[in-house]
Amino acid sequence: MSGDSDIARAPSPFDVERVRADFPILSTTVHGKPLVYLDNAASTQKPRQVLDSMRRFYESDYANVHRGLYQLSVRATEAFEAARCKVGRFVGAESCGEIVFTSGTTTAINLVAHGYGGDHLGPGDEIVLTEMEHHSNIVPWQMLAGRTGAELRIVPIADDGSLRMDEYERLLGPRTRMVCVAHTSNALGTRNPMRRIIDAAHACGAIVVVDGAQGVPHEKIDVRELDCDFFAFSGHKMFGPTGIGALYGKAELLEKTGPFLGGGEMIHSVTFDETTYKDPPHRFEAGTPDITGAVGLGAAVDYLEQIGMDRVEAYERDLLDYGTRLLEEIPRLTLVGTAAEKCGILSFVIDGVHPHDLGTVLDMEGVAVRAGHHCAQPVMDHFGLAATARASLALYNTREDLDVLAASIPKAIELLG
Ligand code: ALA
Repeated sequence: MSGDSDIARAPSPFDVERVRADFPILSTTVHGKPLVYLDNAASTQKPRQVLDSMRRFYESDYANVHRGLYQLSVRATEAFEAARCKVGRFVGAESCGEIVFTSGTTTAINLVAHGYGGDHLGPGDEIVLTEMEHHSNIVPWQMLAGRTGAELRIVPIADDGSLRMDEYERLLGPRTRMVCVAHTSNALGTRNPMRRIIDAAHACGAIVVVDGAQGVPHEKIDVRELDCDFFAFSGHKMFGPTGIGALYGKAELLEKTGPFLGGGEMIHSVTFDETTYKDPPHRFEAGTPDITGAVGLGAAVDYLEQIGMDRVEAYERDLLDYGTRLLEEIPRLTLVGTAAEKCGILSFVIDGVHPHDLGTVLDMEGVAVRAGHHCAQPVMDHFGLAATARASLALYNTREDLDVLAASIPKAIELLG
């Protein structure tokens, strides 16, 4: 291990204890019990490297960006733009300008729906979504359909939570203009066959918008290899701060995308008769951006790159297999989402126990899981459920975390059931 850097450079095999030491919150307690944090699909915890980078930036380089001629503003602008390039490189963008900073995945998808969809869709055009989408990849398209007269087509899921690819291919047609799909389902963990989905959409002339929020923190993403047109993700789910995220768009598509929010910073000139807009990506970044958030996101990217996304993926795959085996042994527990291709999400229900009650009792054991519909009500409807409990993994979780979860569930059943 190098002595000149704090950043976890875990030797092979992955050194999870070294990684955990970077996350101060993981050594705290809740209700007197060691925290077992298993709500990573909702938001991940932050390593010291990210927190330190933000503090350093505020203490020595902070000013507004793109405006000042003074040195501090130049330095802040350089840091902000350097973060854009790091994020772009991390997801395989061809140029820094293909990355738009947004406040997160939801804003990124709304930007595409409004700025691209609003100008390119009309009555009778079709937008293909899937039954496993998060509400943030449903509602913007419903709103767009309402405004333009476009129609939604929904690809169903199978009972294991995988996408019905036969139905997808059947739904595509000459009126399909856009396909909007999750890379990985937040409620089920299903990893979709992205390349096949994207190639089929392109074959009928549609563009593809990927909700990548649950993919980026867990595996190597290469937007050019995927050949997706737009790809949205959030900083706070990938060990960065809240309030910052990104939209990748192919340069030629960002060119064809109109502004989403109007204001300062996104214009060339303004008169009361006419306003002209900047080129992408600044056309989409009205107002003062989350400058320090971008710097923190850049630090999160550095952190992940130094660990290596291939190692993260392999480690989490092993954890998922371990957790699946543990939960399968618990009487009355049913896993919801058992597709062959999954990331580290264990959604489940227990016969006779409400997920919210379960979540509350697990909390008393120090175990943080999410219980609810996970902003994916159509998924719940598919399974005839109102809610599930969901344990979602990240690179700092351990087999011991899963042991605590599995040991706490029977206690909760005894108390509640
Ligand atoms: N989309 C986040 C989740 O799945 C909030 O919990």
